[in-house]
Amino acid sequence: METKRHLTEGFHRLTRVERLNRVKELCRLSEEDMQTLSGESPMPYEIAEHLIENVVGYFQVPMGVATNFTIDGRDVLIPMAVEETSIIAAASATAKWIRREGSIRTYSKGNLIIGQVQLPDVRNVKHARRVLHEQRDMLMGLANACIPGLVHRGGGVQDIAIREVARPAGDGTMVVLHILCDPCDAMGANLINQVCEALKPRVEELTHERVGLCILSNLVDTKVVAAEVLLRDIDPQLGRGIQEATLFAQADPYRAATHNKGVLNGIDPMLIATGNDWRAVEAGIHAYAARSGKYQPVTDWHVEGSDLIGRIEVPLAVGIAGGVTRIHPMARVALKILKVTRAEDLARICAAVGLVQNLGALRALATVGIVKGHMQLHAANLAIAAGAEVHEIAEVRDRLAQILTVEKSINLSRAKEILEAIRVAAQSPAL
Ligand code: MEV
Repeated sequence: METKRHLTEGFHRLTRVERLNRVKELCRLSEEDMQTLSGESPMPYEIAEHLIENVVGYFQVPMGVATNFTIDGRDVLIPMAVEETSIIAAASATAKWIRREGSIRTYSKGNLIIGQVQLPDVRNVKHARRVLHEQRDMLMGLANACIPGLVHRGGGVQDIAIREVARPAGDGTMVVLHILCDPCDAMGANLINQVCEALKPRVEELTHERVGLCILSNLVDTKVVAAEVLLRDIDPQLGRGIQEATLFAQADPYRAATHNKGVLNGIDPMLIATGNDWRAVEAGIHAYAARSGKYQPVTDWHVEGSDLIGRIEVPLAVGIAGGVTRIHPMARVALKILKVTRAEDLARICAAVGLVQNLGALRALATVGIVKGHMQLHAANLAIAAGAEVHEIAEVRDRLAQILTVEKSINLSRAKEILEAIRVAAQSPAL
């Protein structure tokens, strides 16, 4: 099937400066953005000092863009901050396959984050439940009064749910309030934590019970996004292989953990690039994966007729306003590259990229194996680790790639041997 050329066709063959200029053109970046992206104007230390304590320096991670993504009919460049060699190449190659043979659609289910107010050991559960239920509207009013800015923007606390949780030792009952809040375009952690703490004295007063922890929950099953990939006319053997890989992950948590790691290979680099809290998302996704009581893959792939259909469903509390997303210059540029104006759109793209990354891994695993692509790209890392100078890296890498084809494995000592041989040859007089 003929498809229109993607705006970033051939992107990986450009030089770094050409790539930067292409991104600038496509995403209308300013000169200031370009300086940030290229590393010419590094993040000022004043910002770092505001972010954390005891700053001594920066830990740099490469920032790249994955190409060929068309999500919900829109071409989008995916900024990814990541050190693992094959991630961006695999995402781009898989997205290209999907663009040629299928499509990616995304959905969102809910926009509420959860704050927990815990009453750890309730003496009179019936009374606590009754007063909290009766005073629900008053508590919601109190909660919203401490986040007027968010309420003004159309968000705020929308519901309070009362849950009973048995104490693990069976020696009583906890009552846990879930404060459900629409954070608009913020991730909302600071907002919801403030709300929970503000409610504490009034909840104690009403119930005559002690309040324990007041903190958000990272298991945001009230803010779930989904994405679907459809691939038409899939090679039947490949389709079966990818379906089988899902079955393996469904049957075996040891495989499910690695399967989900492959999904997070797509999601985490986007979270880092956009200044989002990837630990929170990781915790949420793993907890969601285990919600049935058995740890499961967060994606599903199956063949339907001649189509391969993939689906992901994950909780994703991300923000594009407030927090690091707005302070970190690189995060601001990443959001410009993505051209997202709503946190929900960022979450949906993250889910889609996670699903595509997972497909890339399963396609390799179900066919040639992961080592070939991974190690070919890793060859350059080995060259650098062996001590190759900039002008020597390509040659060491290419020779390692040749060895990999024949011997199926490469390592640091081989890289060192090759480097040594290249240097000896360079010193020998030409015949
Ligand atoms: C490696 O970073 C990720 C994979 O292990 C994922 C998977 O096995 O599905 C290749």
